[in-house]
Parts: sequence; structure tokens; C-alpha cells
Amino acid sequence: MSSVSLKQAVPNERKHQRRAAVMTGNGLISAVGYLSLQTKDLTGVIRNATDVLGLYETDTTSKKSYLAAQAAHHEIIYSAGDHDAVDHIGLVAKDSEALGIIREKVSRAKYRVIAEQPLDEAVGQGFAFVGPEGFTWQVYTEAASYSLVKNGGFGPDRFGHVNIQVIDTIAQRDFLVEVLGFRVSDRIGHDQAFFLRCNNDHHGIAVFKSSRAVLHHHAWQTQSIVDLGRLGDRLARRGSRLAWGPVRHGAGDNIAAYYVEPTGAVIELYTDLEMIFDPEREARLWAEDDLYWINQWDGQVPPGILDHGIPPLQR
Ligand SMILES: [Fe+2]
Repeated sequence: MSSVSLKQAVPNERKHQRRAAVMTGNGLISAVGYLSLQTKDLTGVIRNATDVLGLYETDTTSKKSYLAAQAAHHEIIYSAGDHDAVDHIGLVAKDSEALGIIREKVSRAKYRVIAEQPLDEAVGQGFAFVGPEGFTWQVYTEAASYSLVKNGGFGPDRFGHVNIQVIDTIAQRDFLVEVLGFRVSDRIGHDQAFFLRCNNDHHGIAVFKSSRAVLHHHAWQTQSIVDLGRLGDRLARRGSRLAWGPVRHGAGDNIAAYYVEPTGAVIELYTDLEMIFDPEREARLWAEDDLYWINQWDGQVPPGILDHGIPPLQR
């Protein structure tokens, strides 16, 4: 039988707890806070984020839009640019001390620091640097908490994770573990993919092996599979469609649906993600040819779904 039979049972009530105080990383990073993308089609991208995904625009300038699902100043930033590209990925440091520790590690590893101040408004302290294969990371402390009222909206509860494709998954894993303190939750084959966590979510960053470096998707958490169906309905009413799903993954155990946003990146809406509360939880290993790691229900992956994505901004 496949590895599905070995999958650990996770009580449903545990899966729905939000990121909690129990940290299963080494505590340097507490969350993947937000994603910043540049796009050639700012108007179309904002329309998609609000009307299809259901995010709220919380702040805006002529060339920049800050959006969030609920209680945050921003969980994604879209800015107008000449290319569709990943500007940076924002990681929340646990506190100022953690920020300082990471800053030292970045120096020791000789990554190129591009700013000693945060790149964006509405965060606390921070700095930004270029990591392996050209992705820019901003590590920061949160400035304040925000409580936006969700006025009957249909959108997700929060930003969940990013999925990046890289050429050298081992080097990317080592960077995330050694510099940023992530832990490996699931590993596919020798180097096919790694799922890494910085808090109780099974993964905040997934790293897939590819022939190029791209952000494949950004993922948003919702409470029910019903919300995934409604996303499919909204797309269909606009003459568009889901690209994949709903599907239950093996690694992470989440039920997910995917569609392509105007940047060319994929958006995932998911529910029922595995939560990990045991800091000693060993990485689960999946054989590379066991496709139930990616699809528990039938082991299938739609042709072309993994070919989408947008590259890191060259700086
Ligand atoms: Fe994902």
C-alpha cells in the first residue's frame, strides 16, 4: 500500500487551531507574514484578490496595494512594475533578539543585505537580504496588531504559506533550517521536495525541485471545504476555472483548490492542514514515486499545473 496508510491521524480540532504559542521551530521566526509581488497588471491583480479570493484592500497608493484576509495590516502587497515577479517574502521574527540573531547568521553566511530597514510600511524593525537562487527575504518584527472587521466577506481567514520551486532544494532547505530556524516536516525522495515549518502549521514554506527558481503559489487558509467550492463557483461565473482540486494532499494533509492569478503565480485556498505540536516530530519521508504525497485520493497531478510561477525580482 501507499504511504497513505502510514499517515498519522490528526484530530480535527487540532487542525483548526490558529498559530499558537507552542513553537515547533527553534523560535527565531514565528510566521511567514506576507508576500510582496510586482505585477504588470495592478488593476487586474487587485480585482482578482478582492473579488475572487476575497481579500480586503487595507491601504493603497497609486502604485501599491496592501491587502489582508482579516486581522493584519497586510498579508500580501502588490505593486506596479515592468515584470510579474516576487519582490520579497516577509518573515516575522519572534522578537528583536531573534531578529539580531538572524542578522548575524545572514552576515556569517555572506548573503547580500539590500536594506537595513524594512522595505515596507507598517512593520517594526527589519532588514532584507537576497538568499539562495535570488529570492529576497525581509525579516521583521511586527509593529502592532490590527483587528479588521470581516463584514460578511467570503474570503479566507489568513495567509498560510508559500511554495517555491528551486534548482537546488538541498541548499534551500539548509538555508531555511540553518539561517532561519525552520524544521522539515515532510521530505519527498532525496531532494524532490521539502515542507518546512516555523510554527504549528505543517508548512510555512514548501520547496520543490525544478529547472528554475520561481514562486509557484501562495496559499490562504479557510475554514471549510465548502469555501473551496464557492471559489470554484466564483471563477466559473467569470468564465474562468480552478486549475486543480479540490484535492487532499499527503504532505500536510490539507484539502486544497488552485487557480492562476493574473501575475502568473498560482493561488491555493486550503483547509484542514495538519498542525504539529510536537517539537520532536520527525520529518516524514515519502518515496519519490509514491504520488500519494501530493494527492491522497488518486495520486494524479494535472498536466502543467507545476509549470506556473513567477521568478524572484532581479536586484
Ligand atoms: Fe501549498
